[in-house]
Amino acid sequence: MRLSQPSATTVRSVVGRYRIPFNRPFLTSAARSRLAESISSSVWSGDGPFTRRVRQLLEEELDVPAALLTTSGTSALEMMALLIDVATGDEVIVPSYTFASTANAFILRGVRPVFIDARIDTLNLDERLLPDLITPRTRAIVTMHYAGVACEMDAIHDIVADRSITVLEDNAHGLFGQYRGRPLGTLGALAALSFHETKNFPCGEGGCLLVNDEQLLDRAEILREKGTDRSRFWRGEVNQYTWRDIGSSYVLADPLAAILLGQLEERELIQQTRMRAWKRYMQELQPWAVTHGVTLPTVPPHCEHPAHLFYLCLSDASTRSRLIAHLASQGILAVSHYVPLNTSPFGRRLGGRPGQCPVSEDISKRLVRLPLYNDISDDDIDSVLESVTTCPL
Ligand SMILES: Cc1ncc(COP(=O)(O)O)c(C=O)c1O
Repeated sequence: MRLSQPSATTVRSVVGRYRIPFNRPFLTSAARSRLAESISSSVWSGDGPFTRRVRQLLEEELDVPAALLTTSGTSALEMMALLIDVATGDEVIVPSYTFASTANAFILRGVRPVFIDARIDTLNLDERLLPDLITPRTRAIVTMHYAGVACEMDAIHDIVADRSITVLEDNAHGLFGQYRGRPLGTLGALAALSFHETKNFPCGEGGCLLVNDEQLLDRAEILREKGTDRSRFWRGEVNQYTWRDIGSSYVLADPLAAILLGQLEERELIQQTRMRAWKRYMQELQPWAVTHGVTLPTVPPHCEHPAHLFYLCLSDASTRSRLIAHLASQGILAVSHYVPLNTSPFGRRLGGRPGQCPVSEDISKRLVRLPLYNDISDDDIDSVLESVTTCPL
């Protein structure tokens, strides 16, 4: 089978034709049985028995006060913006090298995004740039742990100490990653997780708001339940629930929580497979990378990552295109990643401009992600390695 290099608009339609796709959603056997149990029960809406079990599992594993399942990582980020009460005129510092939702959640509240460039090693926001970006209007800094490798959280907290700036985490990539022995998602006042199809633990579309600042918990429950105190009603704390605040429909349907529970129950198996693939890429590409001027991911010694993605940074944009085309010609789908927010069409309308975040802009042209999914086989990895290292760059 020969496939030409996919254009962005055709990726979705041709994905199934690749011998080795970039991602393949994988349902564990536990997830299949939990889903069957859930759909044969009478609870299809949210906060049913499976949601309660996922919540308990995440709270115990991460040692967080509350893990509230949401319809997506995006909705968890939107809840964060509501909970910290940002409004028009406020500024929030967001990475330029991230997904649109990291910024959109705050822009929906009228906030002005202040784009911060990336570090050249981990591609996370460069904390050394923060002092120059903080103004009296800065209300929050949204950290995003790229590929599940932690941002420099101690330095970030030191910079905001004695200021009323909230540190938040977009941890869409990093569930079960660690920073200095502490789980990602527990290092800011609030954190968002994603269970989208492309993530390590997919349930289709889903997310979670981790509430580390317990003072925000009561209001978080209300905002998540359309502005009502229905959560208290379910717990028998009030006789009737009523409209208390603004809010929206952020509760995940219980059958999706059932899938998620089954995926999380087999987390060791999933993580072992992904980590084996990640380590093979890292070790076996090392000599080739050195001779071809290719950079492999940096993981600082105080960080543990959950093998969410494996990327290469080629020497320039045309070399990356050649590699992607070569892999595609052998039925292997490798893909680029974020267009920096400051250079994207909407980012520019919000004041972003080319040249503002030079590291993100450079990386964005050179980075490619290799196939990595929950049931990737050794044969698949062999094929990717063979194809990458024989590509005439
Ligand atoms: C860094 C980051 N934040 C947020 C999201 C949004 O998550 P979701 O798709 O669950 O809304 C994504 C999705 O890919 C992401 O990569």
